[in-house]
Amino acid sequence: MNTLDPSHPLAAGRTASNRLVRAYQGERQEVTPVWFMRQAGRSLPEYRELRVGTRMLDACLDPALASEITLQPVRRHGVDAGIFFSDIVIPLRLAGVDVDIVPGKGPVLGSPVRTSADVDRLTAIDPASLDAEVFSPIVEAVRLTIAELGDTPLIGFAGAPFTLAAYLVEGGPSKDHIRARTLMHADPAAWAKLMAWTADVTGAFLRAQVLAGASAAQLFDSWAGSLSLHDYTEHVAPASTRALSHVRDLTYEASSVDADGGETQIRNVPVVHFGVGTGELLKAMHEVGADVVGVDYRIPLDEASRRLGHVVPIQGNIDPAVLDAPWEVLEAHVVDVLERGVDAPAHVLNLGHGVPPETDPAVLTRLVEFVHSR
Ligand code: CP3
Repeated sequence: MNTLDPSHPLAAGRTASNRLVRAYQGERQEVTPVWFMRQAGRSLPEYRELRVGTRMLDACLDPALASEITLQPVRRHGVDAGIFFSDIVIPLRLAGVDVDIVPGKGPVLGSPVRTSADVDRLTAIDPASLDAEVFSPIVEAVRLTIAELGDTPLIGFAGAPFTLAAYLVEGGPSKDHIRARTLMHADPAAWAKLMAWTADVTGAFLRAQVLAGASAAQLFDSWAGSLSLHDYTEHVAPASTRALSHVRDLTYEASSVDADGGETQIRNVPVVHFGVGTGELLKAMHEVGADVVGVDYRIPLDEASRRLGHVVPIQGNIDPAVLDAPWEVLEAHVVDVLERGVDAPAHVLNLGHGVPPETDPAVLTRLVEFVHSR
């Protein structure tokens, strides 16, 4: 076990009793906490203004800019957490991989990793080279952000090994990640080597954010929904466990005051695991070592909770498409999601995937007010 620094917001008690953190730890809150995936981004005019003339990955590596973009939606919407402004490919870029984000397209690799020789070349980069110095723009951005956030928690995040491998092998965005899934079966040894390397690189990125002050961590396996349960369990889950092992050992002492006075408890930094179209994988995604499971909009939360045995805190699952519907329609959908979320021990309201760029930010603000007023 590794204890967080006493100045960390969780260890110092600033965020430890916050409703988002407590919900992630399984304690139902009177007011349901809410934040939005992709809340820091293109739906905000103040974001678009700040980004003019700066490439996406350069913005992520500019600590003052990344911190300001992280804070924008917290100020505007009053959400219960900030999500660190960065990208899942940042640790690859910092490890020296030729990767960029092409506007309107997504991550694109200079040379795709298709063969066992390609895997050997990539994995010759030692993940241990991602040290404190390499991560300094990330650490600095997190520090600037938590100084402004006060008792509002910052969520750190990373891409899961499969979702990163889907980009590495394909060389860019793809529909069903067929080349990655082929490599998994055609050369299981090369695949396992690639996944283990990716797990350590992305795990180091997540750990750097938590050590620097993030109060929770979310692993995005956005494209895991293209996998069968068998392939997920056999060829992917072990690497996701390995990625999470980089933060699973991080603990802090939480003090809770009860009738007999004070009591301290050792707690771990809560970890959320999310994927798109992963209704069939929810239990397996919990079992890799997550505390909370994120659910997209394709199955209702009571069904998701049933699949998780009714014992796992859940996050989700507003359909992003409904954000642009008349308010009455959205309100009814939100109420339905909140009511179904009661089936789980605790619920954090979120979208089933990211905020669409065209979303009217006023709708998000109104949604947060509505959830907080119930
Ligand atoms: O607000 C937040 O959620 C925090 C920031 C964040 C970004 N990317 C910023 C970003 C987070 C958590 C991510 C994670 C991410 N990146 C994922 C997992 C989450 C998901 O959406 O499934 C994935 C798959 C990526 C890879 C990626 N990066 C894609 C597919 C894209 C979109 C390409 C496009 O332009 O449509 C990006 C670029 C990206 N990452 C943007 C933002 C704000 C848009 C780029 C821009 O504003 O110029």
